[in-house]
Amino acid sequence: MSRGCSYWIQRLLMAAWLLSWKKWLSAIDIGAAAAAPNVKPQGNISKVEDAQNYHIYYGQTFKVIKNGIDGKSYLLIQSDTRMAGRTKYCTPRIKSFVIPLSNFSVDTTTSFPVSFFELLGVVGSMKGMTSNTVASECVLKMVEGGEISLINASEPQQLAPFAAHFVSNLDQFQACNFANFAATGEDSPLQRAEWIKFLGAFANLEKRANQVYKAVKDNYLCLIKVPEAKEKAFKPIVAWMEYQNGIWSFTKELYKLKYVEDAGGENVDASINKITYNISNPDDIEDLHAILCMKHTVGMQLDTIPLHSSKT
Ligand SMILES: *[C@@H]1O[C@H](CO)[C@@H](O)[C@H](O)[C@H]1NC(C)=O
Ligand SMILES: *[C@@H]1O[C@H](CO)[C@@H](O)[C@H](O)[C@H]1NC(C)=O
Ligand SMILES: *[C@@H]1O[C@H](CO)[C@@H](O)[C@H](O)[C@H]1NC(C)=O
Ligand SMILES: *[C@@H]1O[C@H](CO)[C@@H](O)[C@H](O)[C@H]1NC(C)=O
Repeated sequence: MSRGCSYWIQRLLMAAWLLSWKKWLSAIDIGAAAAAPNVKPQGNISKVEDAQNYHIYYGQTFKVIKNGIDGKSYLLIQSDTRMAGRTKYCTPRIKSFVIPLSNFSVDTTTSFPVSFFELLGVVGSMKGMTSNTVASECVLKMVEGGEISLINASEPQQLAPFAAHFVSNLDQFQACNFANFAATGEDSPLQRAEWIKFLGAFANLEKRANQVYKAVKDNYLCLIKVPEAKEKAFKPIVAWMEYQNGIWSFTKELYKLKYVEDAGGENVDASINKITYNISNPDDIEDLHAILCMKHTVGMQLDTIPLHSSKT
């Protein structure tokens, strides 16, 4: 088979994957081999087990990430292939990226887990971020040293020079190099953690991403068993509260409620979760105290978890 011919077969397969996604999904599920007899992925692959909002499919020289949260497909083309120089997509449905990314920037204004890049070992390719609200000392040092530039998210020309710009704010305008990292769309902590495989795919670090996720998952599932195994007269009632601008509120975020359950606690009554309390309002303060005390006097333990840092 000539090079040209296999090139076109590849293009056709890709077009089929991208254009009639649903039909091919079932075929791919049965097995990549069945869907495309001659296409075997090279290298290591990641399988998404728990996360709901993205899938990764592997071709021989490219990958496709289907991002369920925005309905977009990212075609990741291996840099050492002919396709990399020729193929460029930037349509409302499909975007292409050449991988492994030679560099990238991150929208850290809305909290972004830069620790994922550290775990993957690719912080060296991170060349820009939009705010220094990150907890990582290492990343902050790199900003100080000029290895990472602070860029202004409102200035499109500052975001353009990067091979990819990772964002987690779906509402903003999305240029061709933007990739949506939408872990916050997942309901459980483990599902969120599995988004490390999404980032790993852009760096050909599937094996590393799989290892990290497996370690996190094994640990998490092991920790869940601790409270499960304990014979308890009652479960502690937990109020995960947040304080912002003079307002106390019970968290409604599903992944935090799941943390509480998995740690062996019980979340405060769902009816209470809706209420916010303004510290400037004496009636509010009284109501809040009443709820907290009531829980206590009926013989349940009420733990309050302080404001979860928004830094990542
Ligand atoms: C799979 O990943 C490992 C570790 O990252 C790497 O050494 C190996 O070359 C990869 N395999 C292929 C076929 O790319
Ligand atoms: C970012 O750019 C916007 C729009 O040009 C400007 O108004 C704002 O002051 C800039 N922010 C910083 C921190 O430079
Ligand atoms: C990022 O990599 C691209 C090539 O993929 C290069 O053209 C660009 O100059 C690099 N940008 C930065 C900021 O390093
Ligand atoms: C809290 O109450 C004070 C006093 O009534 C009011 O001025 C303030 O706007 C309230 N804060 C919020 C966020 O509603």
